[in-house]
Amino acid sequence: MSTAILEKPATAAATDTILSLNNIEVIYDHVILVLKGVSLQVPRKGIVAILGANGAGKTTTLKAISNLLKAERGEVTKGSIVFDGERVDKMSPNELVRRGCIQVMEGRHCFGHLSIEENLLTGAFTRRDGNAAIKRDLEKIYELFPRLKQRRGSQAGYTSGGEQQMCAIGRAMMSKPKMILLDEPSMGLAPQIVEEIFEIVRQLNDKEDVSFLVAEQNTNMALRYATYGYIMETGRVVMDGEAKMLRENEDVKEFYLGVAEGNKKSFREVKSYKRRKRWLS
Ligand SMILES: Nc1ncnc2c1ncn2[C@@H]1O[C@H](COP(=O)(O)OP(=O)(O)OP(=O)(O)O)[C@@H](O)[C@H]1O
Ligand SMILES: [Mg+2]
Repeated sequence: MSTAILEKPATAAATDTILSLNNIEVIYDHVILVLKGVSLQVPRKGIVAILGANGAGKTTTLKAISNLLKAERGEVTKGSIVFDGERVDKMSPNELVRRGCIQVMEGRHCFGHLSIEENLLTGAFTRRDGNAAIKRDLEKIYELFPRLKQRRGSQAGYTSGGEQQMCAIGRAMMSKPKMILLDEPSMGLAPQIVEEIFEIVRQLNDKEDVSFLVAEQNTNMALRYATYGYIMETGRVVMDGEAKMLRENEDVKEFYLGVAEGNKKSFREVKSYKRRKRWLS
């Protein structure tokens, strides 16, 4: 009897949370401690933002999840990462893609010499469900991204920054992911294009049920689309909360939304963080 009662919440947690990072520590080159006890959760079918300035640890967090740190001589040395109910911190990036979690790297990373369509097809490399299914999904991507359909034959290197970002997201979609880790989609793009990209994220979330963890310096835009946000500074989460709460928080406005004026101190020195810290301790 009592075990049945104990089992129930565990099952519920496994289905409601698609990704959970518990106290992650990351070290580069065996000595450089970069992430210090980062914990975060992404609800299934949610859009969650990781915010923070240059060097805060956003990309490192995403690469810790997707297991791309090895290529950078980085390593998760403490904590655990659970994706879709399973420990994934020792898996290869390909195994993780097969389980439905894929990263879209910062800087878009299309193959410049390949056409848009060839780029999209490279995204299906972990699939084993045959060409007909892949072809069907390609058509679906073109429905979601009409711009890519127009440009399907163009060499990716000659398309615009926005089109390349769409291509990178479309390519990730070709792996049929449950979750996309999206690193700085706004980087180097004009505001109108950034909005278009985030609208696509919203559509993929809405229509295709893809969960998103988005790293962004563009706090303003990210908090319009995410439901929840984590603010990082020097490798730690210094604040987290519902997007609406973060948008209205005076300290967030001052440090990340550029609303107030004056010298920017460290976010960690501001009052509400200290209050939160006292409350936590
Ligand atoms: N391969 C590496 N070797 C050593 N240190 C690294 C490596 N990659 C990143 N770092 C360091 O880790 C810290 C976090 O970097 P990271 O790229 O995760 O930050 P970020 O929040 O993504 O920043 P940005 O907004 O500039 O992309 C920085 O101090 C950075 O110098
Ligand atoms: Mg980064």
